[in-house]
Amino acid sequence: MSRFVLITPDVGFDGRLRQAVAGGLQGGVQTFFTSLLPADPNELFTHLNQEQPEVLVLGPEVPVDEALRLATVLNVSYPELSVILAAEPDPGFLLQAMRAGIRDIVPPDSDAAQIRVLLERASQSFATRHRTLSPPQATESNKGLVIGVFSPKGGVGKTTIATNIAVGLGKVAPMSVVIVDLDLQFGDVASGLYLDPEHTVTDAVSPAASQDSLVLKAFLTVHPGSIYALCAPPTPIDADEITPEQISRLLEQLSEQFQYVVVDTAPGLPEIGLAAMEKCTDVVWVSGMDIPSVRGLRSGLDVLRQLNILPETRHVVLNMADAKNGLTVQDLESTIGAPVDVSIPRSRAVALSTNRGIPVLQEPVKDPATKGLNQLVERFNPAWRAKSQRKLHRRVVV
Ligand SMILES: Nc1ncnc2c1ncn2[C@@H]1O[C@H](COP(=O)(O)OP(=O)(O)OP(=O)(O)O)[C@@H](O)[C@H]1O
Ligand SMILES: [Mg+2]
Repeated sequence: MSRFVLITPDVGFDGRLRQAVAGGLQGGVQTFFTSLLPADPNELFTHLNQEQPEVLVLGPEVPVDEALRLATVLNVSYPELSVILAAEPDPGFLLQAMRAGIRDIVPPDSDAAQIRVLLERASQSFATRHRTLSPPQATESNKGLVIGVFSPKGGVGKTTIATNIAVGLGKVAPMSVVIVDLDLQFGDVASGLYLDPEHTVTDAVSPAASQDSLVLKAFLTVHPGSIYALCAPPTPIDADEITPEQISRLLEQLSEQFQYVVVDTAPGLPEIGLAAMEKCTDVVWVSGMDIPSVRGLRSGLDVLRQLNILPETRHVVLNMADAKNGLTVQDLESTIGAPVDVSIPRSRAVALSTNRGIPVLQEPVKDPATKGLNQLVERFNPAWRAKSQRKLHRRVVV
């Protein structure tokens, strides 16, 4: 059985590592002479045809980004395994490596004696973790609410509302909320929450994550409002590769792990949005107070009725409400064919919050818009729902 597994095309490094092991360490070495890393770590262990090894060395010439990604996944699925990476130990990189769960860095030109010290240390770390780690927890069987924010027209405030719902719910259920940016091409949840995510939806739908919800959780970004975020891919090209089926699976997994999954979407009803809607327990419809936006919402709702995919619990939100623009709430309701449940006035504080990347509900801001946003958040509180079953759709007055 091999205690040590090495992946590298560098034959010289392999020789020095074998010399290090032969110089007094128990167990064998198995080397994969390649710079390609498996997308799914289970593949690695299947090839080994044995129980899990103790130390994995990602040797010289393995792409560093790939190595960090594999280490992140392994750190969750095989927390006992010690991963060592061959790289120059510069301080900025060390922090990145530490976050990915890499146990140690070995400079690529290290001699056998130096490698041996690192391998010994890594084996000890394996032994300690092997003893202390408890078996994985069973996953929650109760599924959480999946709240999708939709609108046929763009720019009506979906992202503003989705980020505020998430942050608002984070106060009542800390670390039990995840916001997912399904405006895959041009999503701006990351900027709305002032996040610079290391991982995105692309990682979250990878084979490793879709098969293991703990791996998926490693790809989420923590936000200071005690919520998790899964942001859109960095480029529209990456977004094109994501399928509706992958999105269905992703939302299924997240709803098993979180009490609340809040989904921001792209305008209109693209395939990804429809796949998400099918998984929603609650749909928040956002309309502006202008004729195109209201008409858009009406035709959107008609199409969905025909397709028979209208989730039962809907919340119609009138955003940027303004009593002086010539339309009344009654005009809106008769066009949409449904009552408006929550009204959020146009507000300078909200516009400013987008540019700062701090949703208004994150700070104690006194502003008319926060009242409407809080009312919306309250609609997802189980106590409110139980009390208000019969008046779920109550007329608002602007
Ligand atoms: N109630 C409000 N008062 C003032 N400004 C608002 C309000 N709601 C949203 N905005 C502003 O409107 C702009 C568009 O909002 P947002 O990005 O949330 O819309 P969106 O529907 O997500 O747009 P897209 O369809 O492009 O994704 C932002 O600059 C935001 O600050
Ligand atoms: Mg948006």
